[in-house]
Amino acid sequence: MARIGTDIHEAIRLLKQGEVIGIPTETVYGLAGNAFDVEAVARIFKVKNRPTFDPLIVHTSSLDRLRQFVEEIPPVAEKLAAQFWPGPMTLVLKKKSIISDLVTSGLDTVAVRIPRHPLTLELLESIDFPLAAPSANPFGYVSPTTAAHVSEQLGDKIAYILDGGDCTVGLESTILAFDNETITVLRLGGYALEDIEKIAGKVHVQTHATSNPAAPGMLESHYAPLTPIVLGDIPVLLNEHKGKRIGVLAFRQDYSGGGDYPCFILSKNGNVDEAATRLFSGLRQLDALHLHIIVSELVPEEGLGRAINDRLRRAAVKRN
Ligand code: TXA
Ligand code: MG
Repeated sequence: MARIGTDIHEAIRLLKQGEVIGIPTETVYGLAGNAFDVEAVARIFKVKNRPTFDPLIVHTSSLDRLRQFVEEIPPVAEKLAAQFWPGPMTLVLKKKSIISDLVTSGLDTVAVRIPRHPLTLELLESIDFPLAAPSANPFGYVSPTTAAHVSEQLGDKIAYILDGGDCTVGLESTILAFDNETITVLRLGGYALEDIEKIAGKVHVQTHATSNPAAPGMLESHYAPLTPIVLGDIPVLLNEHKGKRIGVLAFRQDYSGGGDYPCFILSKNGNVDEAATRLFSGLRQLDALHLHIIVSELVPEEGLGRAINDRLRRAAVKRN
């Protein structure tokens, strides 16, 4: 089983050997390996059971380091970077050849990000290679927001998880791509669209793709618990599914009916930022109860609420 700890030297030692380890970020935990080492990258895909058509995000600690492996940074991307890095934003940029096709699934662009987590920034500063890191969950499942989440699912496949506490944002990064003057949001995430647009102007949102997605987070079903989840008006759904073992994932109200149903409340105060930090824990906790069904509701479509609703909708799509 993976050891869980805060020993950054152990993390560095393993990464230098080509191992993959769990690392904390402000969004979700990552499954990290040397982005310049094809074998380490191959190991990431294997541990995560991830199809190789789904490219990885490369993490680094500064713009100077970033320039070692991206061809160019458009002016508007520089502006966004200055405002939002370190933080939950990923930029898709033209790659240099030092980034292998395995990292990018053959695309000529690479997704890059400077994460906002002190331990991981220190780690990135201490090594001379960037870290390729997808979210540290089996492909298609809910992302991990604690070291324990990583351990539960991947603990038997990796040696070490660097423990940086609970993720403070709790949703994956917002992914942006650039085409001349056009900025496209490929994944809603940890920065609200409103905030991005204050810096970048109007952006296009294109977070759905039926085939050949630019970002498989765009796949209809993703981020899904094993228990079926339905969205709607919770009292109506409770009535419809009477007789089943039901769990409730509620935005702010308590629907436990005095103990009839396990009910996970995302934010008693109705705060979408707090709801974001608790969403994946809630899905995991309810999933662990082996219920027949989870009923849930959308949250207000503002700020991080948009990304929360995006994850809820994808979690609610039936998988084959
Ligand atoms: O917050 C995050 O972004 C977390 C933490 C660990 O940094 N990482 C994360 O990685 O969510 P992952 O692999 O679970 O999701 C990365 C997404 C995928 O949907 C992938 O398709 C997309 O980024 N992506 C990667 N490279 C891309 C590229 N060159 N063009 C378009 N999309 C890309
Ligand atoms: Mg993921």
